[in-house]
Amino acid sequence: MSTTIYFFSGTGNSLKIAKDLSNQLEDSKIIQISEKNLSITNDTSSDKVGFVYPIYFNGLPAMVKKFIESLQVNKDAYFFAIATFGGTAGISFNQIDDILNKKGASLSAGFKVKMPGNYQVMYSPWSEEKQMKRFEILNREVVKIAESIKGSRVDTTNRAGGIKKAVIGLIYNTFKPNEKDNNFWTTEACNGCGTCLKVCPANNITIVDGKPEWKHKCELCLACMQWCPKESIQYKKSTLKRGRYHHPEIKASELFHR
Ligand SMILES: Cc1cc2nc3c(=O)[nH]c(=O)nc-3n(C[C@H](O)[C@H](O)[C@H](O)COP(=O)(O)O)c2cc1C
Ligand code: SF4
Ligand code: SF4
Repeated sequence: MSTTIYFFSGTGNSLKIAKDLSNQLEDSKIIQISEKNLSITNDTSSDKVGFVYPIYFNGLPAMVKKFIESLQVNKDAYFFAIATFGGTAGISFNQIDDILNKKGASLSAGFKVKMPGNYQVMYSPWSEEKQMKRFEILNREVVKIAESIKGSRVDTTNRAGGIKKAVIGLIYNTFKPNEKDNNFWTTEACNGCGTCLKVCPANNITIVDGKPEWKHKCELCLACMQWCPKESIQYKKSTLKRGRYHHPEIKASELFHR
């Protein structure tokens, strides 16, 4: 039974879950959803196919949606999804099921995993103590998820119903990330190291005269801002006094687009 887990991750939460899960499944591999890997448009050979991603504006990151829409699949495969989120899990399982239905397939199970919120545009990072408490419980949750996937269990309990789905869908439709990178700027602390360019899953950054420039095809994953070793990247003025977050057990290099 071969399993392929496609993950998208800005600050490592979703990558951490994808890695831990993959380690518990036999014959399993993980593949990053990134601009480079949008060329992957066929997976008809995996027996089980999973998607692990953060929730953005109550739904799927735009690139994850595009990736799944383009993917040719074996309609009889077991499909699962894991949404990592900071507050509320939204409608991503409905969205994936709808996309798969158009291909004659369906989402067998969706799992919610609460993680530290990384949208520092709106709030400060969780304290280290709060993070650690969460991570302790998390290991047990991932073991349970792995057991469900091994047993090909069907779980549709996490789907949103009619009106809720419609209302949340309206909020999601306001999520237009591409040009949001106009709000990024750098302080004097930038030393031109290029980490921001390397962690960007959208290949949306170039370094010009030793400083990043954004190319307006942003996913708003915040990887550039969160991983900058100088904490130089800011989003408007809202992040000037806020800390930064990335998963403590993930290294930036694990997210370099591959
Ligand atoms: C643009 C953006 C929008 C987000 N929207 C939501 C949201 O609607 N609900 C929520 O619970 N968390 C939201 N978050 C928090 C992330 O879903 C959460 O921190 C996730 O675990 C980050 O995963 P990653 O480290 O793999 O990127 C948002 C984060 C970003 C960057
Ligand atoms: S990661 Fe930070 S310091 Fe390095 S080039 Fe980008 S903005 Fe400058
Ligand atoms: S520019 Fe920054 S926020 Fe936008 S996709 Fe790239 S890393 Fe993410």
